[in-house]
Amino acid sequence: MKAIVVEGDRRNPVLRWREVADVRPGPGEVLLDVRAAGVNRADLLQARGSYPPPAGASDILGLEVCGIIRELGPEVKGWELGERVCALLPGGGYAERAVCDAEVLMRVPPQWSDVEAAAFPEAWITAYVNLFEEGALVEGESVLIHAGASGVGLAAIQLARAAGATVYATAGSAEKISVVLQAGAHHAINYREQNFADQIRKNAGGVDLILDCVGGAYLAQNISLLKRLGRLVNIGLLGGRRGELELDLVLSRRLRIIGSTLRSRSRQEHARLARALLSRFGSLFLTGQLRIIIDSTFPIAEAQKAHERMAQNLNAGKIVLTL
Ligand SMILES: NC(=O)c1ccc[n+]([C@@H]2O[C@H](COP(=O)([O-])OP(=O)(O)OC[C@H]3O[C@@H](n4cnc5c(N)ncnc54)[C@H](OP(=O)(O)O)[C@@H]3O)[C@@H](O)[C@H]2O)c1
Repeated sequence: MKAIVVEGDRRNPVLRWREVADVRPGPGEVLLDVRAAGVNRADLLQARGSYPPPAGASDILGLEVCGIIRELGPEVKGWELGERVCALLPGGGYAERAVCDAEVLMRVPPQWSDVEAAAFPEAWITAYVNLFEEGALVEGESVLIHAGASGVGLAAIQLARAAGATVYATAGSAEKISVVLQAGAHHAINYREQNFADQIRKNAGGVDLILDCVGGAYLAQNISLLKRLGRLVNIGLLGGRRGELELDLVLSRRLRIIGSTLRSRSRQEHARLARALLSRFGSLFLTGQLRIIIDSTFPIAEAQKAHERMAQNLNAGKIVLTL
């Protein structure tokens, strides 16, 4: 089969569509003919050697796919050849065929294209778990979502709004601000033109929850914005791993600082989270209230161009590779 292979050095990885060894499903696994594969920031880091796959996972890039079941491994029940599915993978998605644990498969609703289905698992499950399980967001609260036009950000804005929260989001350009507002943010701040913390303090005093993928560079401002019993959920370090923390605010406001990754969770946990997300919000995808927002697609052989677009922060929504 063919897959994307990372060549070149760590600073300048080169992604090539090459022949690699075939993969086969083991017990409890299925083999998929991949139709589309979502691109994630983690893939960029992995290509640079700084985010190795978990033990036992494929070292091929790719954390989510839409595909057709081609083969059932031993002990797989409840699935048939030819079904169209999407899934989170520990790795191996940038390929003609991918092995996937049957437990984490999701049937794709007929309304979704292959591209939409491949763009769903990572961004939406990340947004769901961090808003509602880690962040304990409830109706009537307010939430600030950084990188609002990212794949995760646009999913989080829509889920938070659907849950009855007031949604603030940041983004780095006028075009992205407009996408963020269309997705349902009540207030959007171009952080390159205005200080986001000043703007939110002026409008609302503060927020109950912050979903943050910037990390160090925003730590002090994030903490200063949280209301009593506020939560900061950190899911990324785009702005660095070190920051200054005013512990007196953490103490006196009884704040919580939470770190979270999806990839390190077990497949049982991935399956549970997908079920929880779809049972609470699944019907809203079918009515069109929730939309999987696609920035662009690239033929998989052009994965390098897709990575360059993401690395330059040009995408608003998900980038997807097609086969
Ligand atoms: N922990 C987890 O389980 C988990 C799972 C999935 C994703 N993530 C993280 O969530 C984030 C979003 O992922 P994604 O795949 O959806 O990303 P994405 O679509 O590539 O979007 C990331 C956006 O972040 C903004 N950004 C980049 N550097 C920044 C900086 N230094 N300061 C402020 N904003 C910056 C850029 O938008 P602007 O032009 O608006 O600046 C960029 O387009 C990433 O950090 C990713 O690693 C974490």
